[in-house]
Amino acid sequence: MALVTKAIKGTQDLLPCDSHKNRYVEQTMLSIAEKFGFKEIRTPVFEHTELFSRGVGDTTDVVQKEMYTFDDKGGRSITLRPEGTAGAMRAFLEHGLFNEPLPQKVSYLTSCYRYEKPQAGRLREFHQFGVECFGTAAPAADAELISLAHQIFSFLGVEGLTLELNSIGCPTCRKNYHKALREYFESRKAQLCPTCLDRLERNPMRILDCKNPECQEIAKNAPKVLDYICDDCAAHFAAVKSHLDAMNIPYVVNPTIVRGLDYYTRTVFEFVSTQIGAQGTVCGGGRYDGLAEELGGSATPSLGFALGIERLMLLLAAQNTPLPEEERADLFFVTMGDAANCKAAQLAYSMRENGLAVQYDILGRSVKAQMKYANKTGARNTVVIGDSELESGEVTVKNMDGGDGAQLPLDGFEDAFEQYLIQAELGRLADEEISF
Ligand code: HAM
Repeated sequence: MALVTKAIKGTQDLLPCDSHKNRYVEQTMLSIAEKFGFKEIRTPVFEHTELFSRGVGDTTDVVQKEMYTFDDKGGRSITLRPEGTAGAMRAFLEHGLFNEPLPQKVSYLTSCYRYEKPQAGRLREFHQFGVECFGTAAPAADAELISLAHQIFSFLGVEGLTLELNSIGCPTCRKNYHKALREYFESRKAQLCPTCLDRLERNPMRILDCKNPECQEIAKNAPKVLDYICDDCAAHFAAVKSHLDAMNIPYVVNPTIVRGLDYYTRTVFEFVSTQIGAQGTVCGGGRYDGLAEELGGSATPSLGFALGIERLMLLLAAQNTPLPEEERADLFFVTMGDAANCKAAQLAYSMRENGLAVQYDILGRSVKAQMKYANKTGARNTVVIGDSELESGEVTVKNMDGGDGAQLPLDGFEDAFEQYLIQAELGRLADEEISF
């Protein structure tokens, strides 16, 4: 296939036959988040590269290997966002949102870009729904955040996800943990990949997250962070768990979760599925109490999560979860001749203003072809208008689902058709009641 008609590797189109499903899922997530107090934020798709190298961390895979970075025409180093947290925090600091009542709760739907090896559930352009909560250190916030993700999954009818929880401590306890990790990996240096040798010096926790199979094998027996966290972090973790218990949200503590981004402190978590292959982490997040300072702001304990839309859609499809059907036209006008087509255009315009979904022929097709099109595109009703209908001032509504039709006047057709729809709906409800 010619290059210009082929999408770039690791990117995908969302076609009209599927987009309504994503829209439903996305709107559902935004509106559930709104109930928890999260309001939508939109930040640019590209930012200064330094935001990510400092925020996400320059020893992470994301920054070292996966960023789409380029110089713009003004010679600035620009990066397409690999994730949403750093940009949201940048906006929080830039616009002084810390002066607003805290905590500030934001949600977002964004495209993200990572130069990873594409496979099922792993793309180079993917989409995240995320939330960030700025300005609270309380464990109640961690549990509330997790309960939001949990509620989204249960509302959407997703089953079989495991919530895996861990605490990776604060900078104080991290020092002891780093020391233990260095000692462990030092004696196994010969088997580590070159990137991990560098990580051993700068940030040994990143070795735990390396995708190289040999490094992963060695990492399996490395010291576990939960054995090194300080009393304050342990108390925080215990409080998060008791809040989750109070909300009846099941979890398993997995001491190997460290997450792939450097900003995390204390609570980290992932919602994992075994039904969509190797890329089973549908949602991940945690606390990042040091990020605001790292970016030059004042201390602002914060937390958040992001959920991969493509992975969620794969999971919904794998589980055959029912999602709303595509919107169908309420009415398709089948027209014969110019005068009838003009009449249909005029009626459709005002009916659409009233919120109905109405279509008519804009291709100059035969009546038979128009009927076929109306049928294929799922129109609920059709009305044929030709010279004789224009003359008599009456049209016939045909119900395409086999229900009752109706004779309606052309004069005042808009109102008459709405009445017809109401009667049809009442009839449907009455039938439903009978079959109860
Ligand atoms: P993350 O774990 O890197 O965290 O990504 C979050 C989610 O995005 C993943 O669980 C996965 O569902 C999806 N995802 C990541 N990479 C890909 C990819 N290449 N293709 C498809 N889906 C992908 C973050 O991005 C953090 N910013 C989350 C967060 C928000 N932490 C605190 N606040």
